[in-house]
Amino acid sequence: MKKFRFALVGCGRISSKHIDAIKNIPDAELTAVCDVIEERARSCSEKAGLNKYYLSYDEMLKNEEVDIVNILTPSGLHPEHTIDIVKKYRKHIIVEKPMALKLSDADTMIKTCDLNSVRLFVVKQNRYNLPVMKLRSAVENGDFGRIFMGSVRVRWARDQKYYDQDEWRGTWKLDGGVLANQASHHIDLLEWMLGTPVSVMAKTETYLADVEVDDTAAAIIKFENGAMGIVEATTATRPVDLEGSLSILGEKGSVVIGGFAVNKMETWNFTGQSKEDRDKVLKEYAENPPNVYGFGHIRYIEHVIDCIRNNKQALVDGLEGRKSLELINAIYESAETGKEVELKFKPRRSKLGS
Ligand SMILES: NC(=O)c1ccc[n+]([C@@H]2O[C@H](COP(=O)([O-])OP(=O)(O)OC[C@H]3O[C@@H](n4cnc5c(N)ncnc54)[C@H](O)[C@@H]3O)[C@@H](O)[C@H]2O)c1
Repeated sequence: MKKFRFALVGCGRISSKHIDAIKNIPDAELTAVCDVIEERARSCSEKAGLNKYYLSYDEMLKNEEVDIVNILTPSGLHPEHTIDIVKKYRKHIIVEKPMALKLSDADTMIKTCDLNSVRLFVVKQNRYNLPVMKLRSAVENGDFGRIFMGSVRVRWARDQKYYDQDEWRGTWKLDGGVLANQASHHIDLLEWMLGTPVSVMAKTETYLADVEVDDTAAAIIKFENGAMGIVEATTATRPVDLEGSLSILGEKGSVVIGGFAVNKMETWNFTGQSKEDRDKVLKEYAENPPNVYGFGHIRYIEHVIDCIRNNKQALVDGLEGRKSLELINAIYESAETGKEVELKFKPRRSKLGS
């Protein structure tokens, strides 16, 4: 069976997750890597067991046979890199989260991929955490009855050293605050469980980090089905990470997934369930995956291959990835204006990407 050939653009922190995932998938092969910082490109290539590296994606894609390009550059550069690569080389794209910062950029990415007949996949690997998939199946089965509330809490610790390690971090233009970066996974999960948001009220603050973006945010979201969503997110937790959690409450049940990275089933209560059923789920989904990144990158890339090979609908394509970006922009706009923001909206005051 055909092996899919991957190339990485960007050899920073997240690149090792992509290298490990590709190595562990029999149908996948890592062909090339590039970074504008030579030391990073070299060490990434060594880690991947390649005997070469590139300092520009043009040089890489002119010289290498590649099916899929993984865009792992700073968030605000994803649109420029995706659009340029698709227009020039017509490759399928896996782009790290968030797909973009500005909604208009996300739209151009989607349109460019469509016009060039290539697929666009946005990495949301936490959707593959086993407790999250278990929760999603309960939502799909209607086990909660009417869902009336969903909450996410991201209480992570990112100190000044974290923000200072790269110039793009903590900037509106290339990173965005805790909502666009760290909590974008959790906001995606909240929407995946609760459906379409219709409006949002929010406040953001910068408490402990010396950065232009927020390090703390609180938002209340109203969903189309009448449910209320709560987002509490901060990177100012000290001295260490506390939790990354998701709770869903319905008329017939309550589920809480906690841990550091929505990876531990903490509560699984449904009306009429037996103690054995509850204990079984709590035991089976106790802590899985075992770290903050999850093992979702493998699942995600396997899914990408399956979608391309069998022409299947992607779990998170450009349009699906755009949904949480729209909500995040609306949250920032509400924090900026002090007003409730209705979706679908055209951002005017969101600072993201500017
Ligand atoms: N899915 C997740 O859980 C997860 C986790 C961490 C980071 N991310 C995302 O991955 C992206 C990268 O994050 P990171 O922590 O690896 O950042 P990083 O700064 O460590 O790495 C980014 C790399 O891109 C390189 N780069 C910039 N411009 C380039 C160009 N034109 N060509 C080639 N390389 C270029 C930089 O030199 C740098 O080495 C961000 O969008 C981030 O949000 C996702």
